[in-house]
Amino acid sequence: MKTNVLMVCLGNICRSPLAEGILKSKTDPKKVSVDSAGTGDYHVGHQPDPRSIDIAKTYNLDITSQRGRQFSVQDFDKFQHIYVMDTFNYADVIALARNDKDRSKVKLILEEIFPGENVDVPDPYQGLAEGFKNVYKMLDEACEIIAKKLEGKTPE
Ligand code: 4NP
Repeated sequence: MKTNVLMVCLGNICRSPLAEGILKSKTDPKKVSVDSAGTGDYHVGHQPDPRSIDIAKTYNLDITSQRGRQFSVQDFDKFQHIYVMDTFNYADVIALARNDKDRSKVKLILEEIFPGENVDVPDPYQGLAEGFKNVYKMLDEACEIIAKKLEGKTPE
């Protein structure tokens, strides 16, 4: 059975589109399906931020076909894993959860690198291009671990 993974941030134009593109590049599309969404509705239908598009291009990833959409409660039924970028996203997604099963799917993405430390992927929207490079590196490291877990190379 295919595993469906959702990446979530606030706007769905900076961090989660990068996480989506990076995890897709590390997994077999026949086995793993990856999508992204924002907790907010500010950028529904929009392309990723040009700074995310640029940093992805530097690493040979094309994320230009992605379009922003808002997280909805139905996403709990479609996805087995919901990775959020920061503790605000975590609180917003958990607030929509209907039961423990929904809640069990939600995880801070940097838990994969720093378990139990509650580390956020910083929101780079108001900052400089350097922030996007930093975000890319964090997400690349986390997605490497996630990809290996999904492909059964290390125990969950
Ligand atoms: P993201 O960054 O959550 O990584 O997509 C943001 C993009 C836009 C806004 C906030 C964060 N905004 O307020 O418009």
